[in-house]
Amino acid sequence: MTFPRRAITKEQPYRINFVCLGNICRSPTAEGVFQHLVTEDELDEYFEIDSAGTGSWHVGNPANSKSQEVANQHGVKLFSRARQAVPSDLEYFDLVVAMDHSNAADLQTMVVKPEQDDKIVLLRDFDPDPDDGAVPDPYYGGMDGFKKVFDIVYRSCRALLDDLKKDIK
Ligand code: 4NP
Repeated sequence: MTFPRRAITKEQPYRINFVCLGNICRSPTAEGVFQHLVTEDELDEYFEIDSAGTGSWHVGNPANSKSQEVANQHGVKLFSRARQAVPSDLEYFDLVVAMDHSNAADLQTMVVKPEQDDKIVLLRDFDPDPDDGAVPDPYYGGMDGFKKVFDIVYRSCRALLDDLKKDIK
């Protein structure tokens, strides 16, 4: 798996943005889980973490109540408020992690420089069990879908952080 790597220091924290469609289910879960793992590993000073949605319907809203419930069951708090992804995210962040292929394609329409394209990856590129590469959208389904999303997101974020830890100086 290739993605933009650099030395990660306290002076230059690695900036990661997780992106889905609504920014109320999958990407807030990924943001909260990654933040939780970073804090658990005492690496807060080395990472800057955010999330966004390609759509604007839910801007300003907290994470979906089912996403929050599943996360809380695992000791993970979801604090984010939805915002819409903007082209400048592809300049600001080191890595822009899409939840599914459609989110990645939408982000690719915002690319203005080749190096920005390299920043767009799928979360499941890091999943030891990647299936079709997409974190399935749980929005219209029941609790089972939200639990599945949490499990996928958790193990993928764990793998992503373990990989990035190699770059901490
Ligand atoms: P998310 O889920 O992309 O994981 O936040 C969705 C939330 C809202 C909608 C679709 C997906 N929606 O169509 O409003």
